[in-house]
Amino acid sequence: MRILVIGSGAREHALLRALDRDPAVTQLHVAPGNAGTGELAAAHPVDVGDPAAISALAGGLGVDLVVIGPEVPLVAGAVDRLRQDGIAAFGPTAAAARIEGSKAFAKDVMSAAGVPTGRAIGVTEESGIGAALDALGAPFVVKDDGLAAGKGVVVTEDRAVAEEHARAVLAAGHPVLVEEFLAGPEVSLFAVCDGTRALPLLPAQDFKRAADGDAGPNTGGMGAYAPLPWAPPDLVDTVQRTVLDPVLAELARRGAPFSGLLYAGLVLTAEGPKVIEFNCRFGDPETQVVLELLDSPLGELLGASAAGNLEGVALQWKSGAAVTVVIAAENYPAAPVSGDEITGIPAPTADAVVLHAGTAQADGVVVSSGGRVLSATASGPDLATARERAYALVDSVRLRGSHHRTDIAAAAIAGQVSGPRR
Ligand code: AMP
Ligand code: GLY
Repeated sequence: MRILVIGSGAREHALLRALDRDPAVTQLHVAPGNAGTGELAAAHPVDVGDPAAISALAGGLGVDLVVIGPEVPLVAGAVDRLRQDGIAAFGPTAAAARIEGSKAFAKDVMSAAGVPTGRAIGVTEESGIGAALDALGAPFVVKDDGLAAGKGVVVTEDRAVAEEHARAVLAAGHPVLVEEFLAGPEVSLFAVCDGTRALPLLPAQDFKRAADGDAGPNTGGMGAYAPLPWAPPDLVDTVQRTVLDPVLAELARRGAPFSGLLYAGLVLTAEGPKVIEFNCRFGDPETQVVLELLDSPLGELLGASAAGNLEGVALQWKSGAAVTVVIAAENYPAAPVSGDEITGIPAPTADAVVLHAGTAQADGVVVSSGGRVLSATASGPDLATARERAYALVDSVRLRGSHHRTDIAAAAIAGQVSGPRR
């Protein structure tokens, strides 16, 4: 199997590392990739927002499968274009990717499918902001209803701050979604889908806020761990029955069957799991830990999804746990500084790897080139060991001005998991 992976983050580096373990995978390509992916795959330049360019590259390389990492090419129709051109692709069509591309569409699908989620009010004019905030009350949840890479959400007790964010989103030309605050621990559950079936992966937890103790602004994600020792044993079955299966059925009924990776962002409320958002692709950094624990051949799994046939596929997992800690550039997320030299990255081993994200080669050295620079990822027989190994990786890396959270997986190990911060 010859595979082309589209994207340049630590998620794509993790996909390549797991694909490389699959004995059926004979050739790996990546576009555009980063300074770390070159060890596993041949790199090619591409404009990830241009479906025709992606298809031309895949056709020229003669690959058997294209795996799309980020949401932007999916929402732009890369999978539609590849399939038209007769090339197998892992990911949803543009019509199905709307589950992430439009929060209002996602709410409409959930409402039609009876999926548990918070109440929400869409706002398109400044005059509507106050009434929506009053109707749902504090803590206020105000979202940018467009692709915002996890950074378009403000959760606050402060009505003035909520109003200001809503005005800023409207001023940028996007609709606003005001939501009911959901209290409880957060879970990311990924499912590989083939249009009708959803095959859940291990549940993981992401750390969205920039600083320890869930302080600071929302980010793309500062760390993750899997599995979740505190989760109820029937969690995955419950989400399959109440969320994944009904959403797939509703999308198929609308003529937009979902294949690829459906990411359910959930809050475990007192009334059960409720959806805060869907993504139409693997999550970053959760993918780094979930794939580190996957024992089944990933190429075969993604190929079966692309072929629309997951029937009879069962997944094997390594025992133990995995932890990833994101090393972010100075001033991330506000205005990340790039161009700084990175040293001290240890060689990967079977249970520890520093995955690259915002990195580039410049004059023979590796330099930072984005907000989330590296993802220090390790597995172990238990969560505490995996965590120690991940932080040992973090300690060995040198990047001027960089920052990371020091509390990834700490509450889970201490048995003190709590909900999102207001
Ligand atoms: P999103 O981009 O929708 O995933 O939101 C980013 C983060 O904001 C989530 O991971 C939560 O921590 C928080 N959040 C979003 N929506 C809600 C909600 N309805 N209730 C509580 N927290 C939320
Ligand atoms: N970790 C959150 C996301 O990938 O959207």
